[in-house]
Amino acid sequence: MAIITIEYEQYSNINELSPDDAELLRRAYEATTLSFAPYSKFNVGAAAKLKSGDIICNANIENASYPIGICAERNLLAAVNSKGSKRTINTIAISYKNDLMPNQNDIISPCGLCRQSLMEWETMQKQNVRIILGLPTSQVIIIRCAKDLLPLSFSGEFLQ
Ligand code: THU
Repeated sequence: MAIITIEYEQYSNINELSPDDAELLRRAYEATTLSFAPYSKFNVGAAAKLKSGDIICNANIENASYPIGICAERNLLAAVNSKGSKRTINTIAISYKNDLMPNQNDIISPCGLCRQSLMEWETMQKQNVRIILGLPTSQVIIIRCAKDLLPLSFSGEFLQ
């Protein structure tokens, strides 16, 4: 029997974070206002702190043809990519606004497609992407790298 474990940091509120991480989480929450989610009404915001120090934000965009919708995380990567040689990401924060959720303090975590995209971004940039998940008004967790969220994953190495 093999066991896979991941370690992550847990904070009961945003004041326990470093000032940089707290700012990034606030920016992710603010980015929920960029979300276009008339169908699910689930507004997700994401913010990336680049190695250059820049912060880039984006959100989910839905479509009446549902599968066309894109998550905040992958929209964020597309926006960061426009930075060209300055696109190295140190940390990403992901937050949300949804008045319909039973527990308004719940943390959301990237979907499977986004985990795969984030993981491959790490491989491309040869540097881990820290991931901050939570709300500015409640608990927060920090994951060391995207790969931790996707054990036993498919990777480009299989294609060579
Ligand atoms: N969504 C994201 O943007 N990121 C996630 O990690 C999970 C889900 C979006 C997709 C869709 O627009 C809405 O949230 C409800 O699934």
